[in-house]
Amino acid sequence: MATPQDRGHWGSRLGFILAAAGSAIGLGNIWKFPYIAGENGGGIFVFIYLTCIALVGLPIMIAEILIGRSTQKSPVGAFKTLYKPDSPWVGVGWLGVASAFVILSFYSVVAGWSMHYVYLSLKGVFTVYEPGGTEAVFGQLFANPKVNIFWHVLFMGVAISVVIAGVHKGVERWSEILMPVMLGMLLVMFGSALTMSGFQEAVQFVFSPSTENLTRAGVLEALGHSFFTLSLGMGAMITYGSYLRSKDDAIKSSFLIALFDTGVALLACLVLFPITFTYGMEPSAGPGLVFVNLPIAFSKMPGGSMLATIFFALLSFAALTSAMSLLEVATAYFIDERGWRRSKAVLVTGSIIILLGLPSAMSGTTGFFGTGMSESFIGMSWFELFDYLASNWMLPLGGLGIAIFMAWRVGEKARVAAFTAGTTWGRLYFGWIHLLRYLVPIAVLAVFLHAIGVL
Ligand code: PFF
Repeated sequence: MATPQDRGHWGSRLGFILAAAGSAIGLGNIWKFPYIAGENGGGIFVFIYLTCIALVGLPIMIAEILIGRSTQKSPVGAFKTLYKPDSPWVGVGWLGVASAFVILSFYSVVAGWSMHYVYLSLKGVFTVYEPGGTEAVFGQLFANPKVNIFWHVLFMGVAISVVIAGVHKGVERWSEILMPVMLGMLLVMFGSALTMSGFQEAVQFVFSPSTENLTRAGVLEALGHSFFTLSLGMGAMITYGSYLRSKDDAIKSSFLIALFDTGVALLACLVLFPITFTYGMEPSAGPGLVFVNLPIAFSKMPGGSMLATIFFALLSFAALTSAMSLLEVATAYFIDERGWRRSKAVLVTGSIIILLGLPSAMSGTTGFFGTGMSESFIGMSWFELFDYLASNWMLPLGGLGIAIFMAWRVGEKARVAAFTAGTTWGRLYFGWIHLLRYLVPIAVLAVFLHAIGVL
């Protein structure tokens, strides 16, 4: 077994907050949130999303960080320590480790697209507008397995080299560099969006609470996304929490992380929608909003090539800090439970994820071993299947397990002690435990009922 010294600790609370916010802020904020907000008509969807973050996401985040901090273990070991080594609760930890493999395998492919777009922007591909041009660019990329695999492997290589350096010298140090750079780039983009004629319309779109476009599916999508965006339900926050010391404030930190994550998601909307409206495009463009529509606008605007480079670089950085946490969850299992050295654990898990990502990297191709790789056995591409499984099933199920475990299985005395240790916000305990006991399980069950078509 690894000794506590091998596991490492954060150097400072700020380092932890930046790393955890780095995990939370990723493709989910800058790529996915704006397009699902666009598809759901903005306004009221955004309001519901904010409510889900505050009432469901935040309580689970606090629970995860407390579990990690009190056990000093990653998910599997944490459940073994808090309950019995052979209890079914350990399955929640296993599910978390499995989710890390599944999510990172396709996440890395999308991050690879983003890196490819940095390269294309630098090459000046988005300097002249041609009708249908950006669709063709994306289509070519999607259909080209070699290019997809190249960026996927490169992206994973970078994540591996950061995580291998350890919690303090790798993850924390790089988060301290990448997060301010990413935020600076986002603010530059925001500054440019402020000067656009479509800014007013965008603010209206994002914040006006018209209920016109509200659907039940939209409410549940907002709830499901709150898990993904805060990196909840798979033990990423348990793992990051396990590198805290017992006197570190988990409650204030959780609020800051959630606030940071939400701020960036809203800022991303206030960057993307002014561009969308100024250049006469539809906000409901779906997943192609960032990779097809946005480049059209970049190719029409003065200085667009530079803005495109900045935008896709910031998207790649955001994806990298999230990927570091996904890889850390998988790695920490082998370090904590199998006693492996960090270098071996990172290289083995990183290689497995690279292999697992190959079908996603080849999602746009047909003819692999004579069968269509674009379709998995249930008619979705591998890519969509992995995203669907993780976002709709694995994370909510993990979140439900964590909430029920913390609220109903851990003894009251131990739970109060964990909550109040190291914080001056102990009076929030009452609200937190009630949300975790009742609202969170009901909300997650609603996601499941929706997924199976009952709701
Ligand atoms: N929160 C990340 C995003 O919004 O892109 C995705 C993610 C990272 C999910 C880490 C889960 C996780 F453990």
